[in-house]
Amino acid sequence: MNQQDKNSTRGEALFGHVSVMPNEVCEFLSVRSGGVYVDGTLGLGGHAQMILKSLGGAGRLIAIDQDLSALEQARKRLAEYGEQCVLVHDNFKNIDAILNARGEHAIDGALLDLGVSSYQLDEAERGFSIKGDGPLDMRMNSQGSVSAYELVNTLPENEIERIIREYGEDRFSKRIAKSICYVRANAPISTTEDLRRAVMKAMPQGRSWQKTHPATRTFQAFRIAVNQELDVLTIGLKALIRRLSSGGRIVIISFHSLEDRIVKNIFREEAQNGVLNILTRKPLIPSDKEAEENPRSRSAKLRAAERI
Ligand SMILES: C[S@@+](CC[C@H](N)C(=O)[O-])C[C@H]1O[C@@H](n2cnc3c(N)ncnc32)[C@H](O)[C@@H]1O
Repeated sequence: MNQQDKNSTRGEALFGHVSVMPNEVCEFLSVRSGGVYVDGTLGLGGHAQMILKSLGGAGRLIAIDQDLSALEQARKRLAEYGEQCVLVHDNFKNIDAILNARGEHAIDGALLDLGVSSYQLDEAERGFSIKGDGPLDMRMNSQGSVSAYELVNTLPENEIERIIREYGEDRFSKRIAKSICYVRANAPISTTEDLRRAVMKAMPQGRSWQKTHPATRTFQAFRIAVNQELDVLTIGLKALIRRLSSGGRIVIISFHSLEDRIVKNIFREEAQNGVLNILTRKPLIPSDKEAEENPRSRSAKLRAAERI
């Protein structure tokens, strides 16, 4: 892919999400013309478009998203690739079943660009964002069973505390859990604004919050719990590695330390087993320029490996 193509992919703010670390993804995925690739987190299709361009008219991309609405938007963007791009509404943890159903066995490469897209964050009614007000949902797959509303309003205090401590790594987890249970005893916490207020009630008085909103970690924690993100990553990543053909590449972009730790540990384990060759000794982070142009890229960490 030439520089102009990469720039046009990066600049597709038009589609509501600017793809993170596009040059690094291209370099480490090193797409072979005619190969079979998996994009397990299609989103609005920015990275997918880069992969399809590099495939050069042959080979296939299996592009998966559990969010039907993202999938439909990507479908329009990628229409010109026709049957070369196989769109799948599913969770990437089901990659074995997805590939088997399509008669694919080994793959030449896979990409996971984890978390939510800007598009999902910007839609208040999805309930992901601490900005705006919307129902307390947070399901990436709107057909999924449990929403944040159910967890926040039904789990016992100690379980809420554990979620906020483990998945949000918030030092005020005890206070926040107590406040949530106190507030919901009067009326259900049904909107993102309600949850934000319950968190603020737990914050020590007299502090000024400048950089990050105090509820950010609690929101992250419930999003991870609702979508079971850590279990899904562990299952999906191991399955993708098993499917890689020799010389096949895997690239993972994560956005918080819990995900990055899982990727690091699985890569390390598979390297010790003689299965993977790790290509990034330390995770790559976006350039200063990218972080400035696309603030949502700031917490990204990219790790890549090659199947031996
Ligand atoms: C950060 S966005 C991907 C952006 C995309 N790479 C691009 O360039 O436009 C992450 C997407 O992955 C999807 N997603 C997250 N976890 C998933 C999972 N376990 N299975 C399928 N899709 C998932 C989300 O719904 C979201 O649309």
